Amino acid sequence: MASSHSDALTPFQPPRPRDTLGRPLRDLRISVTDRCNFRCPYCMPRERYHEHYRFLKSTERLGFEEIVRLARLLISLGARKLRITGGEPLLRAGLAELIGDLTTLRGIDDIALTTNGVLLPQHAAELRAAGLQRVTVSLDSLDADVFARMAGNLGSPAEVLAGIDAAQRAGLAPIKINAVVQRGVNDHTVLPLLERFRGTGITVRLIEFMDVGNRNDWQRAQVVPSRELHALIAARWPLEPLEPNHVGEVAERYAYRDGAGEIGLISSVSQPFCGDCSRARLSSDGVLYTCLFATHGLDLRAPLRAGASDEDLLAAIRACWSARTDRYSELRERSGKPAAPRVEMNQVGG
Ligand code: GTP
Ligand code: 5AD
Ligand code: SF4
Ligand code: SF4
Repeated sequence: MASSHSDALTPFQPPRPRDTLGRPLRDLRISVTDRCNFRCPYCMPRERYHEHYRFLKSTERLGFEEIVRLARLLISLGARKLRITGGEPLLRAGLAELIGDLTTLRGIDDIALTTNGVLLPQHAAELRAAGLQRVTVSLDSLDADVFARMAGNLGSPAEVLAGIDAAQRAGLAPIKINAVVQRGVNDHTVLPLLERFRGTGITVRLIEFMDVGNRNDWQRAQVVPSRELHALIAARWPLEPLEPNHVGEVAERYAYRDGAGEIGLISSVSQPFCGDCSRARLSSDGVLYTCLFATHGLDLRAPLRAGASDEDLLAAIRACWSARTDRYSELRERSGKPAAPRVEMNQVGG
């Protein structure tokens, strides 16, 4: 992977790579830990993530300086949106410090965090002070029993609501809520969830249950297609479609016609959005994945720790992105079945 002066591979203005389908790198999702304080069966089923499960040791995880260095390089290749994920990112000690360092990087338009919310009361104010703009909170149901089933009997809707409250008070905005919908599990609680947040300025997004990872026993019969949810919701509260906020937006947006705000439908299974997918994912042990369903990634930790220069790292990342062919969800829809093995959700944070 030789670099030359004519390639202008400086950390400041390297050429922006396009993948084999012409897609640029725009979004960077950084997982800061593979641990979580929940055990959602669709993400980290308790049978697999038990008390003897070997999570990453702290030395195996990237340190903050390493993360910031890689983020800077990825920004120079085109990344404009940063999202901090986990596992549960608020379990990573000193996270606000990392956010503070990331916000000093030039060239970022947006920095957000995905969390299950229960630790927000402790951390929202310091995260905001460090420069975090907004949070997306996972909340699958307000029904205590359904919630318990979907979070592996940990946490409660009340705790998550307290977290959302804390985020609002800290000025983190706009707040979004992600709810994974599984047929026969929480689909009957979707309308009450939407009702709770109508008129609050908080956007609820309903996500089709996906076959991420290899451990969640995905069955297509459990996917509730977004168009079915749309019909259910519109029968109660008429909806009108909204324009996307930006190219490649994952959620289809709809406004309540009565002015009570908006919702999002994320149809990753029924209407894949690989065509303009510009997302790269950095795992907490420093592997760069170019798809949520990737079978392998580019290890950046080894070269980082072996003393690689910025130019070397940039060349490796550019080569990886330029060779990217991923469109897993589109292919799954064609072949009708998932392929294995894939990266786990708690490694790449959704
Ligand atoms: P916003 O900028 O707030 O709109 O963020 P986002 O659209 O990136 O949303 P978020 O990170 O909250 O993603 C919501 C959910 O959509 C994730 O948890 C995944 O379930 C799904 N999702 C996000 N990105 C991808 C993707 O690249 N592929 C697939 N198949 N699903 C995705
Ligand atoms: N299907 C769809 N969404 C998922 N998430 C985790 N696992 C899945 C899955 N199998 C979502 C969570 C959270 C984000 C991190 O990813 O609900 O909002
Ligand atoms: Fe944790 Fe989120 Fe996965 Fe649930 S979906 S186990 S809260 S990382
Ligand atoms: Fe992007 Fe892969 Fe998701 Fe398609 S399946 S949208 S390529 S992350």
